[in-house]
Amino acid sequence: MHPREETGTATQVTHTSEPSPPEPSPPESSPPQASPEPSGANPPRPKRLSLITGATGLLGSYIAEQLREQGEPVRGLVRTGSDTRLLSKLGVELFEGDLRDLDSLGRATQGVDTVYHCGAFVGDWGPWQQYFEGTVETTRNVVEACRASGNPRLLHVSSISVYGQVSADRGKIDEDFPIGQHHWLWDYYGRSKVEAEQVVRAYPNHTIVRPSWIYGPRDRVSIPRLVDALRSGQLRIMGSGRNPLNMVYAGDVAAGAILAANEPAAVGQAYHLCSHGEITQRELVDLFTEGLGMPRVERHAPMPVAWSVAFLAEAAFRSLGRRTPPPFTRRGIYIMGRPTNFSIAKAAEQLGWEPRVKTREGVREALQWYLSTHPAA
Ligand SMILES: NC(=O)c1ccc[n+]([C@@H]2O[C@H](COP(=O)([O-])OP(=O)(O)OC[C@H]3O[C@@H](n4cnc5c(N)ncnc54)[C@H](OP(=O)(O)O)[C@@H]3O)[C@@H](O)[C@H]2O)c1
Repeated sequence: MHPREETGTATQVTHTSEPSPPEPSPPESSPPQASPEPSGANPPRPKRLSLITGATGLLGSYIAEQLREQGEPVRGLVRTGSDTRLLSKLGVELFEGDLRDLDSLGRATQGVDTVYHCGAFVGDWGPWQQYFEGTVETTRNVVEACRASGNPRLLHVSSISVYGQVSADRGKIDEDFPIGQHHWLWDYYGRSKVEAEQVVRAYPNHTIVRPSWIYGPRDRVSIPRLVDALRSGQLRIMGSGRNPLNMVYAGDVAAGAILAANEPAAVGQAYHLCSHGEITQRELVDLFTEGLGMPRVERHAPMPVAWSVAFLAEAAFRSLGRRTPPPFTRRGIYIMGRPTNFSIAKAAEQLGWEPRVKTREGVREALQWYLSTHPAA
């Protein structure tokens, strides 16, 4: 199974005949970050023009919606042929361009006060070159365009995947925990997010947010994949299924990103945007089977077995040069089984943020949206 994070939009990325970029650089630690003073309540802000990259995606569309609800002018960077119906309805200025095209980014950032950089190669399959070009180089382009356009505030959307595979016995993980370590072989998504953060840190007027697994209506990948895995009878509960899941509603992440982008003391800072782990893996699967009118999943797979099987499947698919992932990947398994010990105390104290949507309600809503928008599914 492939939950939403790092799954995905692989077909959108063009291959070039350029030489392969270097493999990910060696692990490194986050630089120490000074604790800013909280600046108190959030007073009404003057209108500011925001550019959203990845505006047609899950998170970008929620940021666009919330900014428009707040009466803010929004420009969305959209690729030719992307589905822009929602953005048009919201009154977002559509700016056709591509993160790979520095010229289009240079024009899109003109006159912009804030850039919400959500666009990335969000998938769990492909060669390093695809991640490097789709996430690291595109972020370099965004930073370069910002520099050339009067240094707007850059809100960069990273991920808790920058920590690699961390175990629950490490206790609470805060934003100073070293990034770029504990990545498994071929964890290109996590590594590309580490390198993108490094690029962003060289730009002074930035803030980084690191969400966990984002879900909600408009999710183009994880819900369909969960539904497919259930309907095909391939889904197993990993381990006991009693582990809480680190799922966070897209609208909550959008609210956190907007708070972070508008908090003066958040410049140069990174924030986790995660949930408290309200539901377990077992409960999530039950919500899905209930919603789909299917029998409860009774079959379990021990975690180490699932991990080894996924590794062997990935190795086989890679050696065959397959362009699509195997039914189970280690990233999917890790997301369903990873600990929820990512502290959100910093976002709570400095931004006044916490997730508001109850996961049970959010999951039901997301599944209903999926079933109503995919009637034949
Ligand atoms: N989903 C998660 O669970 C999760 C968790 C943690 C962090 N994140 C991060 O959150 C951000 C947003 O993720 P998401 O879930 O919203 O992803 P998504 O729904 O797959 O959206 C990705 C967006 O990026 C755009 N995009 C990709 N390559 C582009 C390019 N070369 N030029 C212009 N636009 C491009 C896509 O445009 P098209 O519509 O044209 O494809 C789409 O709008 C990403 O940085 C991701 O790494 C996601």
